[in-house]
Amino acid sequence: MTDTNSRLRVAVTRRLPDPVQTRLAELFDVTLNEDDHHFSPEELLTAVQASDVIVPSLADRIDGPLLDQAGPRLKLIANYGAGTDHIDLNHARQRGILVTNTPGVLTEDTADMTLALIISVTRRLSEGLAVMQSGSWDGWSPTAFLGGRIGGRKLGIVGMGRIGQAVARRARAFGMEVHYHSRTRLRPEIEAELGATWWESLDWMLSHMDIISIHVAHSPATFHLLGARRLKLLKPSAVVINTSRGEIIDENALTRMLRADEIAGAGLDVYEHGHEANPRLRNLPNVVLLPHMGSATVEGRIEMGERVILNIQTFASGDSPPDLLLPGML
Ligand code: DGY
Repeated sequence: MTDTNSRLRVAVTRRLPDPVQTRLAELFDVTLNEDDHHFSPEELLTAVQASDVIVPSLADRIDGPLLDQAGPRLKLIANYGAGTDHIDLNHARQRGILVTNTPGVLTEDTADMTLALIISVTRRLSEGLAVMQSGSWDGWSPTAFLGGRIGGRKLGIVGMGRIGQAVARRARAFGMEVHYHSRTRLRPEIEAELGATWWESLDWMLSHMDIISIHVAHSPATFHLLGARRLKLLKPSAVVINTSRGEIIDENALTRMLRADEIAGAGLDVYEHGHEANPRLRNLPNVVLLPHMGSATVEGRIEMGERVILNIQTFASGDSPPDLLLPGML
């Protein structure tokens, strides 16, 4: 720990795992949010005005107007999380404020949750759970709770970055056929390892898949990537999975189509309007809804904190933080 480190004022907007908070408090002059409330705009303003470093997370809107009011001390936004669509990266850069995130450490957990959703929807786990919880199960039947076999299904992965590839590995182990669409085609040896088929046309891929899983970051370019027109290309038997960001899918269009049986099912961990999932998605037997818990493991959340600390320490020592983001990178 350097003297510079010990003097850094760090404001953390949400409660983080205990070992992370303890380490932050050892290293920096840190302000914590022990009761884990959502920061008000005024609290965010105080944080950016009084700190050298802020550690926000995905519900904190770090936009241009807020950054324009930042104090001269603010030099680093060390985001606790991989997605940075809540931060105006261009504006931060114009003001000379660095932005880092925590990539890599939540890849495997998010991929696990993606497979969990694929299996839950395809094998009707929530319907089975509801019957058991209500005590209304009257015994085994040859024709009850019939889902679809996972093996042999065509999985179309939209966005083949770290998480997309981790999903592909798991899907392959389950005997699924792996297909993907991404701006850049993978190197042939990685395609071969994943057994993945690249589709240049997203539209074309969508119309051939049994399951679609979203793994692109949210940006103006990906907002409503699956809008009403593209959702209509899906087979009526198709299932849509989203563990990335809700804004990628037109949630109203998806809801309408699920209710009209024009899409067979959905497994969603994220929603277009933050924590406000469309109420018309609730109680649909063919839909599994989760409260954005894809990366929610004890191990992952501690590792995210470790990345945050590493980024702050590296910045404090005058070097380029390992997870430094530049506009246009995501
Ligand atoms: C992130 O870090 O952006 C994830 O969505 C949190 O689960």
